[in-house]
Amino acid sequence: MQSLINKKILLGVTGGIAAYKSAELVRLLIKAGAEVRVVMTPAAREFVQPLTYQALSGHRVYVDLFDAEADSAMDHIELARWCDLLLVAPASADFIGKMAAGYADNLLLTLCLASRQAVAVAPAMNQQMFANAATAANLEQLNARGTLVWGPDSGEQACGDVGPGRMLEPAHLLANIEAHFQPGRLQGVELLLTAGPTREAIDPVRYISNRSSGKMGYALARAALRAGAKVTLVSGPVSLAPPAGAKLIAVESAQEMYAAVMQAVAHSDIFIACAAVSDYRVEQQAEHKIKKSTQAMTLALVPNEDILAAVSALHQRPFCVGFAAETRDLEKYALGKLDAKHLDMIAANLVADGSGGFETDVNRLEVFWPGGGHSIAQASKQEVAKQLIDLIGERYTGALSAEPGSA
Ligand code: PMT
Repeated sequence: MQSLINKKILLGVTGGIAAYKSAELVRLLIKAGAEVRVVMTPAAREFVQPLTYQALSGHRVYVDLFDAEADSAMDHIELARWCDLLLVAPASADFIGKMAAGYADNLLLTLCLASRQAVAVAPAMNQQMFANAATAANLEQLNARGTLVWGPDSGEQACGDVGPGRMLEPAHLLANIEAHFQPGRLQGVELLLTAGPTREAIDPVRYISNRSSGKMGYALARAALRAGAKVTLVSGPVSLAPPAGAKLIAVESAQEMYAAVMQAVAHSDIFIACAAVSDYRVEQQAEHKIKKSTQAMTLALVPNEDILAAVSALHQRPFCVGFAAETRDLEKYALGKLDAKHLDMIAANLVADGSGGFETDVNRLEVFWPGGGHSIAQASKQEVAKQLIDLIGERYTGALSAEPGSA
């Protein structure tokens, strides 16, 4: 079936070994009925000849800003307006950095700046470059501005390294493009989400907290928005840009998070508890800064309310998705929490081996529901979030249609 008839795709190719895979992507797009134009950066020409893309797309390939200006039918602004989607695949670390900084020193960067249509990037680079904090910050910035970040995949790399950084396979990118043009699976669904850590005050200047950065929860909020959901994000203190389009409720302590969730939950269809909520708070918070002494000190802690368990115990409850952060026996503990908290689904991550969890830019999940499960392989938190939201959409729609009286 030709799923992309009448869709105009502008494919940007930057310099990287994965450029050869984009030739296959052009072929798949044409087969799916799309009209494709290709723009290459000067560095991309070192890897693949423009003629390859020209032969596959049936159109001239643009490389220089002045090529586009010389084409009276299509100057660079026209090219940016022409497309329904601009996809940069592969997107090198250098290109991503320049895009994040707003550079426009080649035709493709100019088009990214000039485009009012959706822009997606498919990162492709060495795993160490992907792991670099500069690349992570650049991708986070692009993501916060609404650029779709597709991938990268994890696995063996051309340089011999193994890890995240491979460009998604052409068939996977095609599926993302097709999904992009489909109405979202969560269209109109009210989704409530917790993210980030909580802070439990000891005195006015000290608190107990944990390593959650909020990256996983914020990526989920963005993926849910893209799937069409109306998102309310109850967030502990993080230093991330709020996802555009979400209603953000900022809180500090577990008690504040509990109160915010309980107030918002009545209108929610889906609840995802991604926050790392402190299980305990200090029994007696000091009114003034506690003075240093040479004596050992004991803090009495009392348990906090379990927000997720409280939501799932409601008479009129949303579809409940929990997280489990474990340092061992992932499946055993996750299934225990799924059962004890009566959840519809639980996403479990190992948080001790560096493969994901707290603070990292990548994650991998073992997802369980009563009677089933699915693994999400290690990838960027954006990609993992997209896959988890797809899965939640599937299970949620399935649960709705299984309800007595549904059509
Ligand atoms: O924020 P990042 O740096 O990106 O890291 C992401 C993450 C590791 C924090 C995230 O992927 C994750 O695992 N979140 C859940 C962390 C956690 O507190 O897990 P838990 O196994 O202790 O709790 C189980 C579930 O109960 C969680 O859904 C939690 O939100 C919920 N809970 C726990 C205690 C409490 N008082 N109220 C709750 O709602």
